[in-house]
Amino acid sequence: MTILDGKKTSNDIKNEITAIVDEMKANGEKVPHLAAVIVGNDGASLTYVGSKVRACERVGFESTMVRLPNTTSETELLREIKKLNDNPDIDGFIVQLPLPEQIDTQKVLMNIDPDKDVDGFHPTNFGRMALDMSTFIPATPFGILELLDRYDVATKGKHTVVIGRSHIVGRPMSILMGRRGFPGNSTVTLTHSHTKNITQITSQADIIITALGVPGFLKAEMVKDDAVIIDVGITRVPDETKERGYYITGDVDFENVSKKASHITPVPGGVGPMTIAMLLKNTLLARERHRVAGK
Ligand code: GUN
Repeated sequence: MTILDGKKTSNDIKNEITAIVDEMKANGEKVPHLAAVIVGNDGASLTYVGSKVRACERVGFESTMVRLPNTTSETELLREIKKLNDNPDIDGFIVQLPLPEQIDTQKVLMNIDPDKDVDGFHPTNFGRMALDMSTFIPATPFGILELLDRYDVATKGKHTVVIGRSHIVGRPMSILMGRRGFPGNSTVTLTHSHTKNITQITSQADIIITALGVPGFLKAEMVKDDAVIIDVGITRVPDETKERGYYITGDVDFENVSKKASHITPVPGGVGPMTIAMLLKNTLLARERHRVAGK
């Protein structure tokens, strides 16, 4: 059984990006600049955005964090987005999700300049991804592809079962695994809350990608021998005995499923760190596009 080590792989990627940024600096070029917008005080979101900003510092990018109160109106947020769209110094930015309920998420995402949409959530970029065109691939699915690639996990002709159809992970993942090329060329089944007999489906899977947010959902009896298991779930479970007051766990019963799997991602230290590394990669791509365009 091979652990798909996202912590190590994301560090390798960050080192590769650092080397590129060092060269940019040596050549007197502008370095990539990522901005992150966060609305409200959700603990997990603040942690994620903090990690994204720290990762920028680590590789030598510039970063800007825009913090807005939970009471921010849609109009106010759209005004901030316009500022970032119009600011030539910003190469790419993200709006951390989820947003407070008074704000229409889809409307916000559609107002991000697709050229700066390093999350790849704008319909233009999502469509380009589905059509095999060059684009920003959403960071979590992109991170999973990168892990499969770097560990040389075969995907061609395999049956990939995706659990969960979120716009951020499940839906794009189901498209990407069926695309031509590697990683891809899989036969994909996308399962969700209305799927019947899920065990019957998962137990036929060569690759299972689970993005539900239900701790321990995927049990050993749902998995066939030598399956590849990708766990995207990150749930904070309250635990008084921990200093932080919680522990992090995934969708997979790791102890038992790992005994059957050929490859498996741990939580924490699997897909999570890869998401951040691939956001940096997308920001580097945004900078490169702007440089070529003379911006
Ligand atoms: N919330 C959970 N994952 C993500 C992500 O990849 N990007 C953004 N913007 N928000 C998220």
